[in-house]
Amino acid sequence: MPLKGGNEMNVSIELVKEVLVYLAEIYLKEDDQILFVIDQPFADIPVEPMFVAWPHDVVVIPKVERPGQDYELDESLLKDKTVGWLISSVSISHAQSTKKMIDAGLFLISNPNITPDWPATLTREANIICAYRAHHLLSFMSGGKEDVNPGGKIKVSDDYGTMLTLSVPANNWDTEIGDREGMGTNGPFGELANIPYDANGVYVLCPGDWLTNPINEVTEEIRLTIKGNLVVDIQGGEQAEQLRQVLKKADNLLAYSLGEFSIQLNPFKPDKLYTSVIAEKLEGGMHLAIGSNHMLIKDTCPPEERAKLNFGVYDAGVHIDCITFGKKVEWNKKENSSLVLLNKGRLIVR
Ligand SMILES: [Fe+2]
Repeated sequence: MPLKGGNEMNVSIELVKEVLVYLAEIYLKEDDQILFVIDQPFADIPVEPMFVAWPHDVVVIPKVERPGQDYELDESLLKDKTVGWLISSVSISHAQSTKKMIDAGLFLISNPNITPDWPATLTREANIICAYRAHHLLSFMSGGKEDVNPGGKIKVSDDYGTMLTLSVPANNWDTEIGDREGMGTNGPFGELANIPYDANGVYVLCPGDWLTNPINEVTEEIRLTIKGNLVVDIQGGEQAEQLRQVLKKADNLLAYSLGEFSIQLNPFKPDKLYTSVIAEKLEGGMHLAIGSNHMLIKDTCPPEERAKLNFGVYDAGVHIDCITFGKKVEWNKKENSSLVLLNKGRLIVR
């Protein structure tokens, strides 16, 4: 029996097993103890025989409908666990119960909506290239110095009316490049991410861009107006309305803040793209997320910069990635020192 994932498509158990085996090879250590949280559509995955080598517990939750939606978690299950592994139709990596896992020190693997486009991006070559690109981009942004994690200003623009400026704090870049660094991963690699503050301007999503599952591929122009790091207006058609509804359901004014800025690094594009979690890793793109992001705040972020993050670190229980492929991204570490990092699908570091 095939499984029904986040966009109601049939997904074979074999495909999900293939992805899980690959991720176990990349991320797990021998002495890990795992807490699996699996939503109903994926409940038939034979986790027990597959992960027999690692002590684990499995919690099955009802089907997730909304990104960041909370779920019941018995906190006593966190004891002695080193890895939290979420397998769900829609991402719950930013849910409040997931934050408890992170606070308890578990490394998080969150696999939302495994679809047939996952394996193409999950190769050793992709792993190596993403790691190389993340480190070299950071070095380039730091003015050629190694091991620097700079703060600065970012300008995002395009030919469709996007003109947005935002700032990101120093010592707070995170990478999703197939390692056990940071708090966790979706599994597929290819992001260099930070938390924005002081974002102001207009950000336009065009057909061919993506929004977090379950909206997925954008088929019409959606125009976001951002003031003081909050999305204050969403214009467009049906999908814009869907986006407004998802945010409204979070029932929290802070759900409208920006919680992520990411540059995408993975060069291995699948033949057909099915889901936002793969779209958000692909080379040539960048994304902003509307909603919370407790995953991204790092201990290394200086207190004076942390104070500026105001909205970005709360628990609004929603996280919607706005993934775009036609943007120009300019980096300003100091006044008058603009560097182009990305321009119309071409990364400066390759
Ligand atoms: Fe991201």
